[in-house]
Amino acid sequence: MASKMYQIKTFDRIAGVGLSRFPRERYAVGPESARPDGYILRSYKLHGQDVPDSLLAVARAGAGVNNIPVADYTRRGIVVFNTPGANANAVKEMVTAALLLSSRRILQGMNRVQELTDVTDAGEMARLLEKEKKQFAGGEIAGKTLGVVGLGAIGSMVANIALELGMHVAGFDPALSVEAAWRLSSRVQKVDSLEALLRCSDFVTLHVPAIEATRHMIDADALQRFKPGARLLNFAREEIVDVDAVVTALDEDRLAAYVTDFPAPVLLGRPNVLLFPHLGASTAEAEQNCSVMAADQLMDFLEHGNIVNSVNFPQTRMAREGGYRITFANDNVPRVLGAVLSVLADHNVNVIDMVNKSLQDVAYNIMDVESEPTPEIVRAIAAADGVIRVRVV
Ligand SMILES: NC(=O)c1ccc[n+]([C@@H]2O[C@H](COP(=O)([O-])OP(=O)(O)OC[C@H]3O[C@@H](n4cnc5c(N)ncnc54)[C@H](O)[C@@H]3O)[C@@H](O)[C@H]2O)c1
Repeated sequence: MASKMYQIKTFDRIAGVGLSRFPRERYAVGPESARPDGYILRSYKLHGQDVPDSLLAVARAGAGVNNIPVADYTRRGIVVFNTPGANANAVKEMVTAALLLSSRRILQGMNRVQELTDVTDAGEMARLLEKEKKQFAGGEIAGKTLGVVGLGAIGSMVANIALELGMHVAGFDPALSVEAAWRLSSRVQKVDSLEALLRCSDFVTLHVPAIEATRHMIDADALQRFKPGARLLNFAREEIVDVDAVVTALDEDRLAAYVTDFPAPVLLGRPNVLLFPHLGASTAEAEQNCSVMAADQLMDFLEHGNIVNSVNFPQTRMAREGGYRITFANDNVPRVLGAVLSVLADHNVNVIDMVNKSLQDVAYNIMDVESEPTPEIVRAIAAADGVIRVRVV
């Protein structure tokens, strides 16, 4: 209820801009907490740790959740949030830099200048570099075609900025989300197969998740379909590309360059390969965005029961139009919702509005009711077969 004081336990160093989202009059936030309602963390490992009965939700400031025992938390009705897309702009900017670096021999030219430590005369240095500079010439990206594979949070931003830089953009994403479609410029040409995208692109950039279907999506066969002299950028995940096949394509001059955030020994020392030490999301702003998103999602859940960006419970939101709010999680089996509605009917509690969503084995419900649910009603709902957890928020 409005007067409740929530306790948030912090792990790791969470960006202050995120922690300052929690209003001090309603939240006690810190690394020590006797009865935490929520956790906020980055990569702290929760496996094997005791789980307090009070814990309702965990917010991970970042995308991956393998530091959290998600299946166990799901069974306990604990909602696990992550922050997809919070680092998308950071990756977009990195990919933009990579695109330009792959097209012109900027890094090679800069490295050559640094080698001239034994030249002491500025005039001599200028003459020498003037003579050598043609080997560092390159091409422009304007007017070329960029093929974007995966048009989610990052891919859609990359596609839009490439248009701004004067490129033609083709995109392939068979499962484009509505949010991403809204973000995407109508000037991005949607193609309906990877093959069609590869055939028309001078640059190909990958922005798909690492799942079974995308493992080695770029293999020897796919590389045969690239335009001769095309460049490949991989800022998604290592396993999406068969790196041995890329080396062969580079050796045979079919691929002009490979640029990636995921170095492998076989790629070192090659003039047409640019390697970055997984820098895509490494900006202060990305870290801040993650912590703000994690904090906001946690608060929205604790205060209103809304679930946005959870990895284990369905996206469930309902605007508050008054009354009292009951939320409950349950096993995704028939008759649970009916049983809960019967409890309310038996106690003469009228439902104003409700939403019920499911995700695999679990379901989640938000119900706004006219009269205040008594502890007896809450106990009766909790006792209904299949109900995992009930709250009044
Ligand atoms: N380099 C880095 O530091 C860094 C940082 C953040 C994210 N990433 C990686 O970037 C990638 C994209 O992240 P995001 O936040 O944009 O994810 P996202 O979930 O918003 O978007 C992924 C998109 O890929 C599409 N997709 C899935 N399978 C596909 C397929 N077979 N063919 C074409 N499209 C397909 C989905 O429909 C979705 O639109 C992920 O692999 C992520 O791990 C890298």
